[in-house]
Amino acid sequence: MNVGLKTLILPAGAAATAAAARALADGALVAFPTETVYGLGADATNAAAIARLYQAKGRPAFNPLIAHVGDLGAARQIGLFDAKALALAEAFWPGPLTLVLPKTADCAVADLATAGLDTVAIRIPAHPVAREILRLFGRPVVAPSANLSGHVSPTTAAHVQSDLNGRIDLIVDGGAVAVGVESTIVGCFEAPMLLRPGGLPRAEIERVLGRALVQPPVDADSDSGQPLAPGMLASHYAPRATVRLGAMRIEPGEALLAFGSHPVSGIDAASAVMNLSARGDLAEAAANLFGYLRALDTRGARTIAVMPIPDDGLGEAINDRLRRAAVGRK
Ligand code: TXA
Ligand code: MG
Repeated sequence: MNVGLKTLILPAGAAATAAAARALADGALVAFPTETVYGLGADATNAAAIARLYQAKGRPAFNPLIAHVGDLGAARQIGLFDAKALALAEAFWPGPLTLVLPKTADCAVADLATAGLDTVAIRIPAHPVAREILRLFGRPVVAPSANLSGHVSPTTAAHVQSDLNGRIDLIVDGGAVAVGVESTIVGCFEAPMLLRPGGLPRAEIERVLGRALVQPPVDADSDSGQPLAPGMLASHYAPRATVRLGAMRIEPGEALLAFGSHPVSGIDAASAVMNLSARGDLAEAAANLFGYLRALDTRGARTIAVMPIPDDGLGEAINDRLRRAAVGRK
């Protein structure tokens, strides 16, 4: 890896996707856009490349990664699909859904990527740049969000650069992403479980399953010693600033992260104001969420006050990320 050197950035296109596929085959680390957030890719079958990926992110090595593949055939080589998993795959792939499945006997994904679990997380992304890289590369690509561990996820190439410049080999710049929050993760266990709310609303998944998704046990993280979705550690999404939720008035000097058009008292004394969606659109708010948190953080606000956001549809994922941001960095 290029540690200390400048990371190459290429605009998305045939030359960039070809360079990305070659770099992955060489064991290099490549950031690329998916429809949810930018991912930091490595060859899922190459344990040395995956070790460098954990290092570049500063990520605890017990935290398993999502294997990204180009089509259902490739997914079935690494994960065992039952009827429910297949129904979800057919309804929502390519798209912002990750399925956690039992590994196949000859699953090529390195143990380091699955943190030694006997399950594997799989996703077929919808972004054309991600799809083209996966097609050219022809093997599964593990890709966590392309940020330093504990920072908010990147939704532009510039975010990736500001966290990982000099720590990774290549960034493919495909512009701002469409969804803005990470994929929804469903554990395909006896009773399908919502491991992480995300870019695909729960209700759409439940409609296809014909039943409600069960919730993970409340303190799965501490009880079993083997977390179900260990990336969901409470402090995962922390910006530098203190985050205060449900704010209907703001204190002098606070930055305001607004939603909708409700009036907020004290707004004149705010150090900065950004509105996730003035028209109250949750999809627009999700797409803006991480970029606005970064922007307010960069301006040096001590506290970011966040207005209440409805919990339906994509609001569940937005509020989940905001609660984690409010816990603060550990
Ligand atoms: O939208 C996304 O999912 C993005 C883009 C790049 O695809 N990726 C992403 O990856 O968010 P990451 O590494 O930041 O989050 C992966 C999550 C973590 O919470 C991890 O614990 C969970 O998936 N995970 C991975 N394998 C798992 C497994 N076998 N069982 C349970 N959870 C798993
Ligand atoms: Mg992440």
